[in-house]
Amino acid sequence: MEYETHDYDVLVVGAGGAGLRAAIEASAGGVKVGLLCKSLLGKAHTVMAEGGIAAALANVDDRDNWKVHFSDTMRGGQYVNNWRMAELHAKEAPDRVRELEAWGAVFDRTTDGRILQRNFGGHRYPRLAHVGDRTGLEMIRTLQDHGVHRGMDVHMEFTVVSLLKDGGRIAGVFGYERERGRFKVFRASAVILATGGLGRAYRITSNSWEGTGDGHSLAYHSGAELIDMEFIQFHPTGMIWPPSVQGILVTEGVRGEGGILVNKEGRRFMFDDIPEPYRNQTADNEDEGWRYTQGDKSARRPPELLTRDHVARCINREVREGRGSPHGGVFLDIAWIRKRMQNSEEHIRRKLPSMYHQFKQLADIDITKEAMEVGPTTHYVMGGVRVDADSQMSNVPGLFAAGECAAGINGANRLGGNSLSDLLVFGKRAGEYAAQYAREHPRPAFDLAQADEAAHLAVQPFEPGRSENPYTIQHELQGAMQELVGIVRQENEMVTALEVVEKLSTRAATAAVHGHREYNPGWHTALDLRHLLTVSEAIARCAIERRESRGGHFREDYPEKVSEFGKVNMVVRKTATGSMELQRVPLAEMPPELKQVIEENK
Ligand code: FUM
Repeated sequence: MEYETHDYDVLVVGAGGAGLRAAIEASAGGVKVGLLCKSLLGKAHTVMAEGGIAAALANVDDRDNWKVHFSDTMRGGQYVNNWRMAELHAKEAPDRVRELEAWGAVFDRTTDGRILQRNFGGHRYPRLAHVGDRTGLEMIRTLQDHGVHRGMDVHMEFTVVSLLKDGGRIAGVFGYERERGRFKVFRASAVILATGGLGRAYRITSNSWEGTGDGHSLAYHSGAELIDMEFIQFHPTGMIWPPSVQGILVTEGVRGEGGILVNKEGRRFMFDDIPEPYRNQTADNEDEGWRYTQGDKSARRPPELLTRDHVARCINREVREGRGSPHGGVFLDIAWIRKRMQNSEEHIRRKLPSMYHQFKQLADIDITKEAMEVGPTTHYVMGGVRVDADSQMSNVPGLFAAGECAAGINGANRLGGNSLSDLLVFGKRAGEYAAQYAREHPRPAFDLAQADEAAHLAVQPFEPGRSENPYTIQHELQGAMQELVGIVRQENEMVTALEVVEKLSTRAATAAVHGHREYNPGWHTALDLRHLLTVSEAIARCAIERRESRGGHFREDYPEKVSEFGKVNMVVRKTATGSMELQRVPLAEMPPELKQVIEENK
C-alpha cells in the first residue's frame, strides 16, 4: 500500500495543554514540529480544569512557596508520587504561569493588580491562578495563539492507531483522518504522547469522546511501561440531572468560592469525617470556613475543600445510606452566601460564569438562588506512562509522554489545579528534551510492513461475516468499570471485571461496522475499543494487586493504608507473548533535603 507520508523531527500527539506547550518548546528548539489532534484544535479536556492553575505565586497569602506546594502535592498523592517530578513541578509552576500571562492569558486580579489565586482542595493556601471558571479554556486559547505563530504544522481530526518503530526506537505513527478515512504515516525522530486521559472507560465521566486512553495504550503496545493505573480520580462534583448531562464537570471552584455540600436532610455531612492529617486545618463551623474562603489568613479551610478522593467517598456514603438527593447525588449550594454577602448573585455570576450558564441552560437551575444536584464523575487518571522525571522520555528511546497520559507527579491522588501546572511544566520539558533528542538522532528508517499490518487490522471490522456491535461492547465495558472498579472496590468484583474485559476483548476482535471509511463513527468506536480494553485491563490488574486503600484507590476489603504498598509503583508491561505482566517496583529513595521539607510542612 501507499500512504501519504509526512516527516518531522518531533511529532506531538494531542493538542491539549501539554501537547501545545510541548510543541511550542520543541519549535523553539529549532526543529520541525508536527502536531496531531484527534479532534479540532482548541477542543481538549484541558478546558475541564476550570477552577485554576496551581502555582505558589504567593499573591494572596505570602506564606506560600514551592516547599509548601511540594509538601501538599506529596501529601495529596499519599507519598507514592515521583518526588522529583513533584519538586520540579512546585519549583517551576510559578514561572510557567507568568510566562502564560506574558503570552496573553488574562487572569483575574487582586485589588492591587496581581494574579488572583483561589482556594482548592488539599492546597494549604489560596494557590489557584484563575480566569473565573474558564481557566483551562483561557490556557488553551493562549497556547494555541502563541503556538500557531511558531510555525508548527497542525493536523486536525487525525487518530493515531499505532506507533511505528525502528528496532527498539520510535520511528513515527500510523493512523487515519476522520473525515475521509484515509491512512497516513508520520515519520519522526521523537514522538511526544500528550493524549490526556481515559475517562471514557467509565459510564459517568467528565471526559468527552476523545478520552479513550489512546496514549496509554499506544505506549503500552509499543513496549513502554505504565505505572499506578489503579489510581483513578473521581471528581466529587459532576452534574447528575438530567441524565443526558450526567458527568459534566461542576468545578471545584464552586467550593473554592464558598459552596457547601449538604445531604437531603440539609446537613453539611463533610463535617462528619475529617481525616487525621487535616483535622487541625479544617474549619469547625460554617463561619470559620467562610472566612477562609474570603482569604482570611488566620482562619481554617472548610471541609468541602478536603482532597477529592475523600469528598467523593463522603458523597458516595451519603447516597448509599439513603441521605442523597432525588437523583442519586447530594446538593452543592453556593446560593447560601447571600447570608454573608451583599450582591451575592452578581458575585456568583462573575466568579462562576460557566457554571451559571451550564446549570441555567442544561438543568434550568439558577445557581445564584438554588442548590445544584451533584455526584462523583470519573475525571482523571493519575497512572500512566512511566517517564524520566526531568526529560519525560519513556523506556522506549524517542518516545516521550506529558500531561495526563504520563504518570508520577500525582501519586495516588491529584490535587485540583495541579493538572494545569503539570501540563505547562512537563509539556515544556518534554518539548525541550524531545527536540534535543531529535537533533542528536537522525530520523529513523521507516519499515512499511508495520503500517501495512496496522492498516490490515484497522479495516478488519468492514469484513463480511462479523456481527458484534462496537457500541454495545463499549457500553458493556463502561458499565462493568463503573460498577466493579469504581470509587469503592473489592477483590471479587474486580476479578469479575477482568473476566468481563477478557470476554469483551474476544468479542471486539469480531466487531462489525457498516458503510465506508468516510466519517464513520462506528468504525472509530471499533478502533478505540482496543485502547479502552487495554487501559481497563491495566486498571483492574493494578487495583487487584494493591491490597490497601490509598488516594483514588479505595478497597472495602482493605480499607487501611499498608506501609509496604507505600514504597512501590505497580508497573505493567506487555510481554513477548502479548499478555500483560504486572510487577511491584520500589520507589526511588527521597533525598534527605526533600524529606526535611515535608517534615517542616507537616
Ligand atoms: O474542578 C475543576 O475545576 C477541575 C480542576 C482540575 O481538575 O484540576
